[in-house]
Amino acid sequence: METSPTADRLTSRFVAGRSIEQEISVIERLKRENVLATVDYLGENVHSLEEAAATRDTYLAILDRVGRAGAGTTISIKLTQFGLSISTDVCRDNVDPLVAKAKELGTRVEIDMESSEYVDRTLQIVSAMQARYGSVRSVIQAYLYRSEKDVDCLCGEGIPIRLCKGAYKEPAEVAFQKKVEVDRNYVRLVHIMLERGTYPAIASHDEKMVAEALRVVKAQGIGPERFEFQMLYGIRRDLQQKIVADGYTLRLYVPYGDAWYPYFMRRLAERPANVMFLARNMLRR
Ligand code: FDA
Repeated sequence: METSPTADRLTSRFVAGRSIEQEISVIERLKRENVLATVDYLGENVHSLEEAAATRDTYLAILDRVGRAGAGTTISIKLTQFGLSISTDVCRDNVDPLVAKAKELGTRVEIDMESSEYVDRTLQIVSAMQARYGSVRSVIQAYLYRSEKDVDCLCGEGIPIRLCKGAYKEPAEVAFQKKVEVDRNYVRLVHIMLERGTYPAIASHDEKMVAEALRVVKAQGIGPERFEFQMLYGIRRDLQQKIVADGYTLRLYVPYGDAWYPYFMRRLAERPANVMFLARNMLRR
């Protein structure tokens, strides 16, 4: 499916395209709409040193390209693409030159959070990169019981956080299972981040989460330059426009690349209505 010619029509709502050129053209369009971007080069877990090094080199080239385009664009990476399943050291060595280069270009590497088995090692690498360069952002998932403690530590280290609800299937031993519990924890963590965090990112399409963040911001007189909202490319475009029109910073997570299938399926699974939406669009075109 990933190489089928009809795939582009299917995925274009959520994925910028297959090439860096298509990604850059989406970033430039967003820039004209006053929206920032973070680049995600699609891929999943790798198991060999060669594949991990290839991901590093691809991202170094992306950073070069994005750095030239300017516009405050960041990059988002998944550590399993950089060899985290092989070893923490291999992964750290692959991520290091990328964060160094991001610093040189005045931008940031946003380190996505994957399934719970990787959280400890991901946070170790985030801390090491922060200590060395400072140009990283960590991701915290509100569905994990441990996240309040992690948010506390990251705020203490001055590491910016992107707070999301969490996208993986996690067992009850480690994660809240009910939406209402996840939402309650999300709100609790938003409060901590806005009070003590460094340039936090509120990453959600849930109007209630956005409204709660704005309530805290207004009550505490927090200026729009001190935080940002983040959303996924193609999701809740109405809410995206409203946030920008109200004068707040919005950054979209814009994926591209050939390996779109798992990302695309996660987006469909989050909201089965998307399947109908896409089917209607396919028929209309
Ligand atoms: P929720 O799932 O409760 O949805 C609220 C509303 O948003 C829905 O009612 C619907 O209107 C809309 N919506 C949500 N998903 C939709 C979809 N797919 N299609 C259409 N509408 C949809 N996760 C993770 O585990 N690690 C990570 O590193 C990241 N990184 C990340 C970056 C950014 C910028 C975002 C926005 C999200 C992530 N995520 C993530 C994903 C996140 O954990 C979560 O799975 C999704 O954002 C959906 O959760 P919401 O907060 O949107 O709320």
